[in-house]
Amino acid sequence: MIGAPNGKVRRVQTGPALSHEHAHGRSLSVIEREAHGCQRCDLYRNATQLVFGEGPPDARLVLVGEQPGDKEDVAGRPFVGPAGTVLTECLGEAGIERADCYLTNAVKHFKYEQRGKRRLHSRPNAGEIQRCAWWLGAELEHIHPHVVVALGATAARTLLGPGVKVRTDRGKAIDLGLGFWILVTIHPSYLLRIRGRESAERERSDFISDLKVALELQRA
Ligand code: URA
Repeated sequence: MIGAPNGKVRRVQTGPALSHEHAHGRSLSVIEREAHGCQRCDLYRNATQLVFGEGPPDARLVLVGEQPGDKEDVAGRPFVGPAGTVLTECLGEAGIERADCYLTNAVKHFKYEQRGKRRLHSRPNAGEIQRCAWWLGAELEHIHPHVVVALGATAARTLLGPGVKVRTDRGKAIDLGLGFWILVTIHPSYLLRIRGRESAERERSDFISDLKVALELQRA
């Protein structure tokens, strides 16, 4: 449920990652091994490798991005490129240690368009998100976090269904009755695209405020 500004509570759906059981008693390392052979959609064909989540398996805070980028695809680790650098800085400014968090993505293979030598990020479609949500669901069942932060629209929809809106729903504590809070915010790569110093600083500060809400929730 999301508290709307008019004081009313709006119901959001449970997204594909949370709508049924995934792990069926298998350990996280077994699930990770299985994920590396994933052919649930076609994205495995062009990606270098699957990028599974990373961090303490008992983390209180889980951060969910969209999909690995170019750097993550090569390194095999989430958030090691430019968006990861901004994310790490903003987490630090919010008082959160990146090493204490479990970082993962809604979609686990890099989807891109080849333009000459460059590989340009391409948004995963609804079918790819739906199929890949299986792995995120399994990760969350194992970690039992206190708070899950959805970074951007793809992660938000994977957790909360198509009705969620990043602009209006960000920064609010959402309770689906699953034993953890969900908090939606922007994707850190958005901060890299903003032109104009003033708006860049404002957006960065709003992002840090959202992360501070997550920190408070995971302490509660
Ligand atoms: N963007 C994401 O959403 N995830 C990553 O791992 C890197 C960039």
